[in-house]
Amino acid sequence: MLASRLLVAVTLALAAAAAGPQLSPRVLHESRGFAPLGWNPVRRATGLRIPLKIGLTQPNLASIEEYLMDVSHPESPNYGNHWSSAKVAQTFRPTQDSVDTVRTWLHQSGIEPHRVKVAGGWLTADVTAEEAEELLGTEYYVYEHENGAVQVGCDKKYHLPEHVSKHVDLITPTIHFDTKVKREQPGALGKRKTQNVGAPGFGPVSPKTTGTIKDVIDELEHCDTHTTVNCLRALYDFVYYPLVPDENSIGIVEYTPQAYSPSDLDLFFKNFSSSQVGQRPTMTSIDGGTIDVNGSGFGINGESNLDLQYAMALVGERQPVTLYQVGDPLEGGSFNNFLDALDGSFCTFEGGDDPSQDAVYPDPIKGGYTGKEDCGTVTPAKVISTSYSYDEWELTPAYMERQCAEYAKLGLMGTTVLYSSGDYGVGGYGDTCLLPNGTAGPGGKIFAPSFPGGCPYVTSVGATQVNPGAKVTDPESACEQVIYSGGGFSNVFKMPGYQKDAVNSYLSKYPPPYSTDLWNNTGSRGYPDLSANGANYPVAVQGEFYLVYGTSASSPVMASILSAVNDARLALGKNSIGFINPTIYSDVFSFGFNDITNGTNPGCGTKGYSAQPGWDPVTGLGTPNFVKLVALWLLLP
Ligand SMILES: *[C@@H]1O[C@H](CO)[C@@H](O)[C@H](O)[C@H]1NC(C)=O
Ligand SMILES: *[C@@H]1O[C@H](CO)[C@@H](O)[C@H](O)[C@H]1NC(C)=O
Ligand SMILES: *[C@@H]1O[C@H](CO)[C@@H](O)[C@H](O)[C@H]1NC(C)=O
Ligand SMILES: *[C@@H]1O[C@H](CO)[C@@H](O)[C@H](O)[C@H]1NC(C)=O
Ligand SMILES: *[C@@H]1O[C@H](CO)[C@@H](O)[C@H](O)[C@H]1NC(C)=O
Repeated sequence: MLASRLLVAVTLALAAAAAGPQLSPRVLHESRGFAPLGWNPVRRATGLRIPLKIGLTQPNLASIEEYLMDVSHPESPNYGNHWSSAKVAQTFRPTQDSVDTVRTWLHQSGIEPHRVKVAGGWLTADVTAEEAEELLGTEYYVYEHENGAVQVGCDKKYHLPEHVSKHVDLITPTIHFDTKVKREQPGALGKRKTQNVGAPGFGPVSPKTTGTIKDVIDELEHCDTHTTVNCLRALYDFVYYPLVPDENSIGIVEYTPQAYSPSDLDLFFKNFSSSQVGQRPTMTSIDGGTIDVNGSGFGINGESNLDLQYAMALVGERQPVTLYQVGDPLEGGSFNNFLDALDGSFCTFEGGDDPSQDAVYPDPIKGGYTGKEDCGTVTPAKVISTSYSYDEWELTPAYMERQCAEYAKLGLMGTTVLYSSGDYGVGGYGDTCLLPNGTAGPGGKIFAPSFPGGCPYVTSVGATQVNPGAKVTDPESACEQVIYSGGGFSNVFKMPGYQKDAVNSYLSKYPPPYSTDLWNNTGSRGYPDLSANGANYPVAVQGEFYLVYGTSASSPVMASILSAVNDARLALGKNSIGFINPTIYSDVFSFGFNDITNGTNPGCGTKGYSAQPGWDPVTGLGTPNFVKLVALWLLLP
């Protein structure tokens, strides 16, 4: 039962169906247990024309982990020798053999050459529903969305000849729906029926607040109630004067309609970093992204204000911070829209992104951004922090794998990619948990991992707290105020080599006291990788200070510290730290972290996992000690 609940991507199981001319046995290419959220089949697609888009496989993808380890593993002779974007594009460009194989198959199946086109990594074929059914061994239906949208798609699975299957990544429209579902206006989030409100571009979500406060006593005796910039400096031994700020870069990603408010930034600086009053992030607008000049309240400004106020104050006035503002106010954007802007080779409008998740530009909605979609227009910063996430169950494995590989490419190019691990412990967004059929909803009991926390090529950041009544010098615990640190084991990604020792040691010494029906014990990627304080942050919003909680805070704090490590290395002529996971899991780096051994991450009606000595699925390897980490990283080539 459980095995059928998610898509099985590119399973090479032999399929019974066989029709039309075949050069090799037909195999199941992709399947999914249920149609995307909100879509229902209403009739067969008989007689309709289907613009089939065939995404070719990227060669060498199977070796991407090897390439990444070669430049990221601290013991590799090539440590730090990151790739150029041209080398990345060239290495993963689909081969002529793939193009030829797919084209030949289409021609032999009766699709004349003039109906087939090649563009980038994609072939498009103009076919009828009957032809598509015969090509793919499936049945096509017209699906209707709850909000009225209509889409042609196939029923649960499709097939390809074995010799073609290995050249094809995915085909649309199939089980991937590519009709843009019109989003609600900003602020109308409460009316949405769909669940992916933790995702970018969907309006006011996370972090959490307990309301406004009048006075912050910015003294180290009070770090248990107010986590100020000075508290963070004390906790993580983080005082640093940037030496080569022009060579260094740090980027914070925000998704419209959420946006920061400049006047709040100044209010925050006035109280906590007075020399920075008037300073602004360097704005990089992606797909029509805009900021909120006048300020609109916690729902719109909370996340962005938190991220930028703390990141900018922590790196200090000398180090510019880049703001990647993604998506126009009507459609917003997604992680794929952002990645398109960073990497021209990822940017495949013809069908690479999934319009049921990703925004489409120029915006088809009236009044939206009319410019072209940003595609390879932005040079990635050396450290990038994002405080948004999805739950894995909302997305298909193919979608997640494609995006996860892209994070590996950023790592190859020397960028550190940080994501907050989520705020609901072992539960999904809003503590919704999985049902046996793989969707989440009321009554769900199965732990619901977050994405991209479970992608082995990002660094996932969990949350800690200073215990109530404790001193700033006392050990922190897992965050158990207002939010719980997201953590657990992916249902999609396998455990990467770099964390095997750490994760297996946890599992054997502290076996989770739950039936394996509730969590994935089959050797999956464990997250988070590390953590930082996520409780009691004073954040200026609309002229007042709010007390804010979330791994949303932990990620930009971690990014600021890692950015300073980069500065120290760059100043000595070394390269950026890039993909840090193989390094931080190495034995010697355990010295650079404060191991967190107290607290749990409840969710799904359980206490969740518990923080323990060594790595744990609550706080990862622990919180950073900057002075020790920078010393360790300076020892590396
Ligand atoms: C999954 O199970 C729940 C509860 O039994 C049900 O309400 C829901 O419709 C099911 N979803 C799918 C896609 O099968
Ligand atoms: C910010 O500073 C002002 C002026 O010193 C002070 O009145 C106010 O209480 C401070 N705000 C907070 C939240 O500490
Ligand atoms: C901000 O407020 C000013 C004055 O109230 C108004 O003229 C302007 O249109 C507003 N700007 C935005 C982007 O809402
Ligand atoms: C558990 O995770 C693995 C990936 O490590 C995945 O293949 C498998 O389908 C997952 N099991 C369930 C029940 O989701
Ligand atoms: C563990 O955390 C709880 C708060 O969540 C705190 O009350 C307790 O004192 C902590 N214990 C230790 C040993 O730090």
